[in-house]
Amino acid sequence: MRTIIEPFRIKMTEPLKITTLEEREAALKVAHHNVFLLDAEDCCIDLLTDSGTGAMSAQQWAAMMLGDESYAGSRSWKSFEHTVREITGIAHVLPTHQGRAAEGILAECVIRPGDVIPNNSHFDTTRANIEYRGATALNLPCPEAFDTQVPAPFKGNMDVDALRRCIAEHGREKIPFAMVTVTNNTGGGQPVSMANLRAVKAVLDEHDIPFVIDACRFAENAYFVREREGGYADRPLMEIAQEMFSLADGATMSCKKDGLANIGGFLVCRNDEWAVRFRNLLILREGFPTYGGLAGRDLEAIAVGLREALDYDYQVYRHATVEYMVERLTALGIPMVLPAGGHAVFLDARAMLPDLPQLQYPGVGVVNALYVAGGIRAVELGSVMFGHFDENGTEQPSPLELVRLAFPRRVYTQSHFDYIIEVIEQVWRERDLIPGHRITKQAEALRHFTCHFEPIPH
Ligand code: F0G
Repeated sequence: MRTIIEPFRIKMTEPLKITTLEEREAALKVAHHNVFLLDAEDCCIDLLTDSGTGAMSAQQWAAMMLGDESYAGSRSWKSFEHTVREITGIAHVLPTHQGRAAEGILAECVIRPGDVIPNNSHFDTTRANIEYRGATALNLPCPEAFDTQVPAPFKGNMDVDALRRCIAEHGREKIPFAMVTVTNNTGGGQPVSMANLRAVKAVLDEHDIPFVIDACRFAENAYFVREREGGYADRPLMEIAQEMFSLADGATMSCKKDGLANIGGFLVCRNDEWAVRFRNLLILREGFPTYGGLAGRDLEAIAVGLREALDYDYQVYRHATVEYMVERLTALGIPMVLPAGGHAVFLDARAMLPDLPQLQYPGVGVVNALYVAGGIRAVELGSVMFGHFDENGTEQPSPLELVRLAFPRRVYTQSHFDYIIEVIEQVWRERDLIPGHRITKQAEALRHFTCHFEPIPH
């Protein structure tokens, strides 16, 4: 088989700042050992997120020039709405400035205090929006999701039996909707099978509970369904996406991922009554319903980007980059979530640093070591991001301590990936030097963004 190449060439470049070890050590200190507080310019390879960091195509830039900035009923809105409707088949389309705004509107309009919202795994903003309403965000991933080494094809699936138990325990009245996140970002970017989406939908239908898909990486999920699930091998990704959305009563979307745009999102629903409530709140929070916090230019870029994300050759290339890294790192014996997920490589920091207590945040140790060793910015998805305090105020760790290296779309080339592998290898070889960390300052919600750390000397 031939090398899978980037199905694009580069027309515009952006310089990367090459820093020295001393500069990186100093920068990390100034940032209180929290990579969120670094200047982006000081991050040679920025894998903090795949959100809003992609490179737009010439077609998207061209479409932006056609942006219609009319306040109401613009041409750009029409092309956005048309595209979203074509992909989702869902009537009511509400543009938002990004995914969390869609989540916020959904939560504020539909959730009451004491409600329970099941999901395969909630993303942190989804969880925060639900908890802000005084409700419980419940994660019900399939059992294989907790074993980073099982190479199951659809580790993003929801545990359908657990969903049944959840409904039996809390009752339909407490569950205004249930969600499934495709792909399951916090569980390793793992996909959800069509069969699982169907099974979830069937259970929810029995109880008349609406089904909402968190669709941020819907196109990557469609690609995995095609590659890994029987009966989809010859189907266009557009059709697979349409089939996924046909099972949903609504969806929240961050177009900063599979919209291949730098900003944007949407909320869609079939229920007319929900739509009225959403629209009224949208006007208050985001803007008139035909722009919702976005410029006409953004709407155009997203309309083109959503289609490009469903291009099969693009997804083949995108997945090849993730697979390439996973194969090399596995050959080096580095523990990570297997199989390769859709948008990122997730190192298993607990397995890398088995002697470090979870509440000394092994993920933060690995993240900071990657920065110091090579200027690579990754993110901890472990006890800092997902830990919580129980009723007694005791901090409880997260089930997994992962370090996510998320790949911006169409941004880095093969040699960047080779460099990343070299840096990870160095950190792995020198892992005994990685210290634990303690938190010296933190916010009540979403603490990972702003908290300060201090290394605990060996
Ligand atoms: N849902 C999922 C599954 C996400 O991954 C994100 C964002 C959101 C919702 C919220 O979307 O950022 O547009 O408000 N994830 C980014 C990440 C930030 O790095 O994984 P947003």
